Amino acid sequence: MPLEEVERRLREAYDRDFHFEEGRVLGSMCSKPEDIAVKYHALFSEANLGNRGLYPGTAELEEEIIGDISELMHLKGGWGQFVGGGTEGNITAMWIARNLSEKKKILAPESAHFSMKKATDLLAMELVDIPLDNEYRMDVDALEREMDGDVAAVMAVAGSTELGQVDPIKEISEVAGDVFLHVDAAFGGMVLPFLEDLGRWSGDWDFRVNGVDSLSVDLHKMGMSTVPSGILLLKERGYVDSISVESPYLTTKRNIGLAGTRPSGAVAGAYAVVKSMGRKGYRDVVKRCMENTEYLVGKMQDIGFEPVIKPIMNVVAFKTDRAEKIRKEMDKMGWKISTVRRPKAIRMVVMPYVTRKVIDEFTEALDGLGYA
Ligand SMILES: Cc1ncc(COP(=O)(O)O)c(C=O)c1O
Repeated sequence: MPLEEVERRLREAYDRDFHFEEGRVLGSMCSKPEDIAVKYHALFSEANLGNRGLYPGTAELEEEIIGDISELMHLKGGWGQFVGGGTEGNITAMWIARNLSEKKKILAPESAHFSMKKATDLLAMELVDIPLDNEYRMDVDALEREMDGDVAAVMAVAGSTELGQVDPIKEISEVAGDVFLHVDAAFGGMVLPFLEDLGRWSGDWDFRVNGVDSLSVDLHKMGMSTVPSGILLLKERGYVDSISVESPYLTTKRNIGLAGTRPSGAVAGAYAVVKSMGRKGYRDVVKRCMENTEYLVGKMQDIGFEPVIKPIMNVVAFKTDRAEKIRKEMDKMGWKISTVRRPKAIRMVVMPYVTRKVIDEFTEALDGLGYA
């Protein structure tokens, strides 16, 4: 194809996509990456930390960011690596748990992300759904009843996909005892530390809980960096021996994790955004997102919708029997929201690019449907 034709085709495809800055995407857990992240992601686009010896500079950036995020999650020592996102983080954690224990069962809350189903299938494990309490957190008594000698891993969520709820991780850890405990903080990991700073939330959810063995957190969600930018953290460095393989043709003797080639522009992107925003930058973003979430709740209540739970973070769902109908009709008007199956609800994620003007327009359009 002539170059102009190629570029015309690419532009056309780009224009057909929905873009965060247009403001109508209200159901995404990813956000518009900061400009500085985009710039340095592009500069490092050939980097491949799967062949680490060729990229000593990028490797150093990865170590530094893993160090910063470990500190944020209260992990001392330990080990971490960039992964493709929450899905890869969860699957890798279950892979480690299975190999360390040589057992099959994963106990996970009903609210767990669908990546747990993929992990179970790929690893030939068995997923046991643990029911939720009336606040939609993992029911610890139900967990206790399911604990037996076949359990390879217990997993808990810090910031559930549908409601932004946080499981009682300290109590879960007490029940799990020596069994491998994984925390999925893909979304909440870059929200909860700043809610704590702001005095808006408190609780033990990260490596402060002694029994937590691994944690996944995504910088391409509330970290405001480029895709794919997930991080998996492990309490013990030695855990990776259970999943590393010989990599004779590469610059390092052993390869760790699911990916061979690792897209590492995202490491530079993450470095750029994490270092330039700093703790204060993220705290300010989370503060604004929470204030806008509360604004949305108020506006929704004004037109007759009640939240399923008082939002802990910037994920909020509103009860309605007509969730799917509302989603479809709003979609026709260009609004992208999602739905929750149990309880039936419509769900919004108030990401940093969502403004009050957008919330006003959205609630006005929703009110016009007359479904409250
Ligand atoms: C709690 C949680 N875990 C895992 C994931 C999967 O993350 P990814 O889509 O980056 O693989 C998500 C995605 O939204 C999530 O909300």
